[in-house]
Amino acid sequence: MDKVLITRMIPENGVEILKGNFDVVVNKKDRNLTKGEILELSKDVFGIVSMVSDKIDKEVIENAENLRIIANYGVGINNVDINSATKRGIFFTNTPDVLTQATAELGFSLILACARHIPQADRFTRSGKFKGVSPVLFLGKELYGVTLGIIGMGRIGATVARMAHFGFDMNIVYYNRTRSDRENLIGAKRVELECLLKESDVIIVCAPLNDDSRYMLDKKEFSLMKNDAIFVNIGRGEIVNTDALIEKAQFSKGFVVGLDVYENEPNFDKRLLELNNCVMLPHVGSATHKTRMRMAEIACMNVLKVKKGECPDFVVNGGELCRAKD
Ligand code: DGY
Repeated sequence: MDKVLITRMIPENGVEILKGNFDVVVNKKDRNLTKGEILELSKDVFGIVSMVSDKIDKEVIENAENLRIIANYGVGINNVDINSATKRGIFFTNTPDVLTQATAELGFSLILACARHIPQADRFTRSGKFKGVSPVLFLGKELYGVTLGIIGMGRIGATVARMAHFGFDMNIVYYNRTRSDRENLIGAKRVELECLLKESDVIIVCAPLNDDSRYMLDKKEFSLMKNDAIFVNIGRGEIVNTDALIEKAQFSKGFVVGLDVYENEPNFDKRLLELNNCVMLPHVGSATHKTRMRMAEIACMNVLKVKKGECPDFVVNGGELCRAKD
């Protein structure tokens, strides 16, 4: 029977789709597989259901002789060597759409957590420091009517924009390669990056990682941001130069940072822990029960579809592989 490797424990509804059709190997450890483990476990597989944190590079792809599909459990695609997969006729799929709402909600939660110092206030209360209502305790910022700058106006960015517009009446500017077809609906204005950085009271990064976005926000870009801005990243850590981010947060005490993603996950820069003006989450953008079940279903159905000779959904590496099946 053909084998499928699932690199982390995903919801059982996904695994059930594969059982009976494949010999399913699930990494049951509460950690990511090492590169050596991925190489070893994938060498004879038909499919890999991979996490966005697994490096599925040229070496892994060339080592897996029977590999027909890499089904990423997530929307991000920067962990897979797409050219190597395409060259070998291997499908590469992801799970967009189903995680848009959950990830945008998480992004907005981070904005609110930063604006009202929610994690810090929670720690304060738990530690017994609450001595009654105070006129100066945890003064934060209101979002109503202020300017939100969205870097990356794809599905997730546009959903954040909708929440900001309809929920908080925020002015929205965004930076994106192309114009959003929803900009009139949400009163958003496409601007140059420099303008967005200077004008925004709240900045959220929703962009994917690619050659254009790597280190898009470096020392110069942080120097343009307001000293009391809120800066949130739910895209990818490598879009931001962490040194520049830390420097800005250290020297501008009114600057508040909310992070769900980091450079070099999970080994993030430990200096972030020393920043009181930083809210840190462990990359949980899509982590709701409903969304994770839908992601499991899509990724595993895609493996099964390829086995049946069908074209899977959400193919990242172009139409060519699917056209060959038409
Ligand atoms: C993804 O799916 O790429 C997201 O980063 C998950 O939060």
